[in-house]
Amino acid sequence: MRDCKVSHLKSILRLKKILITGGAGFIGSHVVRRFVSNYPDYQIVNLDKLTYAGNLLNLKDVENESNYRFVKGDIVDAAFIDEFFAQEKFDAVIHLAAESHVDRSITSPLDFVMTNVMGTVNLLNAAKKYWKDNLVNNRFYHVSTDEVYGTLGEEGMFTEKTAYDPHSPYSASKASSDHFVRAYQDTYGLNTVISNCSNNYGSYHFPEKLIPLAINNIKNNNPIPVYGKGENIRDWLWVEDHARAIDVIFHQAKSSSTYNVGGHNEWKNIDLIHLLCKIMDKKLGHDAGTSQKLITFVTDRAGHDLRYAIDSTKLQNELGWAPSLQFEEGLEKTVEWYLSNDEWLYSVTSGSYQSYYQAQYTDR
Ligand code: NAD
Ligand code: DAU
Repeated sequence: MRDCKVSHLKSILRLKKILITGGAGFIGSHVVRRFVSNYPDYQIVNLDKLTYAGNLLNLKDVENESNYRFVKGDIVDAAFIDEFFAQEKFDAVIHLAAESHVDRSITSPLDFVMTNVMGTVNLLNAAKKYWKDNLVNNRFYHVSTDEVYGTLGEEGMFTEKTAYDPHSPYSASKASSDHFVRAYQDTYGLNTVISNCSNNYGSYHFPEKLIPLAINNIKNNNPIPVYGKGENIRDWLWVEDHARAIDVIFHQAKSSSTYNVGGHNEWKNIDLIHLLCKIMDKKLGHDAGTSQKLITFVTDRAGHDLRYAIDSTKLQNELGWAPSLQFEEGLEKTVEWYLSNDEWLYSVTSGSYQSYYQAQYTDR
């Protein structure tokens, strides 16, 4: 059993030229940084369309590394993807490019179908075509979400066996892309792995998502919009722990396997916001209770999933991964990062962010 695992590991470790899609986004930038820094003998190619969510400032510290290259391109463009694979001869793909925000999927569902479903199928087609002589040894790693499992009541957790039950256009598009990845494994013999992760937090998180949006609003003395009564529950994971999980799964998982990744760290939104307000008051030198006054309950998200909780026992037992950081410590580090990166925050909140924010939150 052990020998089998080791020889499998060796074959995957020969995968030297890796395409990372969506590497200019939040999680993708942490994955690119980790692979570029930890694997100097790999060639890492980051393909990203640079949508509103993609930002090359996220990768300033690695942009000149000799084992790293950025290519601007759209995964929805099938002809481009085909030519790109023909030229580059990748050994493996780690696929993160996606439209990722649930609220945007409610207003523009087709963008999610195009990028998350069509884009993924375009990549699968190119992998199938250009890896046809070595399907077993090349690897297609699809990074997915726990939202494909739907919502939980007060009890229970999502395991790898939980049936898919997506509720938002975002989660429906991610579920569909997961199904396509499995279909290409089963039908064409592509070597695939999928991981489904819970909510990430940390540096370079675009401030349309709850934690960075609340930090930015508190910093600017603006209302903190809490959907409904703030009773929805999310399971938060430090983004660098997710990047480490992706590293471990990419290198060690068996072909066709699935792993859940999560923080064992459930927080009701309103409790999380109270903790964040306390940290922000301390860091900004404000009187205790100042930030809390900004909390504003607003109209709930349509189809809002009540609770997510990940059971990551399989990943912990089989591949030895575990989250490294306590939430309070991670949140404090995150706040410190946002308070000392004004330039980054300005670059992502000026321009089109302003009109997005108006449309999403005015009269909500
Ligand atoms: P993000 O929105 O921050 O980044 C997405 C990146 O994909 C951006 O750089 C964007 O420019 C790029 N992109 C979008 N459309 C593209 C296209 N058509 N062609 C090429 N590039 C394109 O997203 P994220 O939060 O970093 O999430 C990354 C992946 O992880 C997604 O697949 C998401 O579903 C999944 N995920 C996210 C979380 C989370 O908490 N953020 C949790 C679990 C899984
Ligand atoms: O669970 C993994 C998913 O986590 C990822 O697949 C998604 O890409 C990622 O965006 C995230 O989805 P959520 O919808 O859970 O994250 P978001 O930060 O948008 O919202 C977290 C919770 O906070 C959710 O219950 C909605 C609520 N919320 C969100 C915003 C933006 C608010 O109360 N107010 C807000 O302004």
